[in-house]
Amino acid sequence: MLCFLEEPRQLDILRASPDLIGSAIEEVVRFRSPGQVMFRQTTRHVELHGRSIPADQFVLLMIGSANRDPAFFPDPNRFDVRRTPNPHIGFGHGIHACLGAALARTEARVALPHLLSRFRRFELATPEPWEPREALHVHGPLALPLRVEWATVRAS
Ligand code: HEM
Repeated sequence: MLCFLEEPRQLDILRASPDLIGSAIEEVVRFRSPGQVMFRQTTRHVELHGRSIPADQFVLLMIGSANRDPAFFPDPNRFDVRRTPNPHIGFGHGIHACLGAALARTEARVALPHLLSRFRRFELATPEPWEPREALHVHGPLALPLRVEWATVRAS
């Protein structure tokens, strides 16, 4: 909801082409990765991009930064529901990649179209800008109060 509040033009594109829901969800996870950082521990000495990391070291993986790497994402600071390819690592990578990724994607595919069809318009309900939650791990707004204009829902 935050991505679409900030980029109403992208919301218009998604409303006009609902088939973009899958790619829009991937772009949300890339652009506002809830997991900004992850840890690993080296089991052996590693050479990476000209740097040496000794064995048995804690390594901080900057997922949020990787997801805006211009070498992989043209115009990386642009939220683009049509972005393709979108090789983000918002759900991690390798044998510890997110076990709940399929569930998270399914929840978003169900919830987002419902919200968008129920809300004709929505805006931030507070005069202040949104506040990020203080977090090492899961990032996002502390709260996101919305003022919404309901769409007429026909009884089935
Ligand atoms: C948008 C929602 C979610 C995001 C962005 C997310 C992101 C992540 C990330 C970045 C990791 C670390 C992957 C790595 O170390 O390479 C992870 C791990 C994990 N996630 Fe999620 N996750 C989400 C939802 C969920 C849900 C809904 C569940 C469970 C129902 C879940 C369960 C797990 C588990 C169990 C792991 C640890 C896997 C392992 O260490 O082998 N996640 N997730």
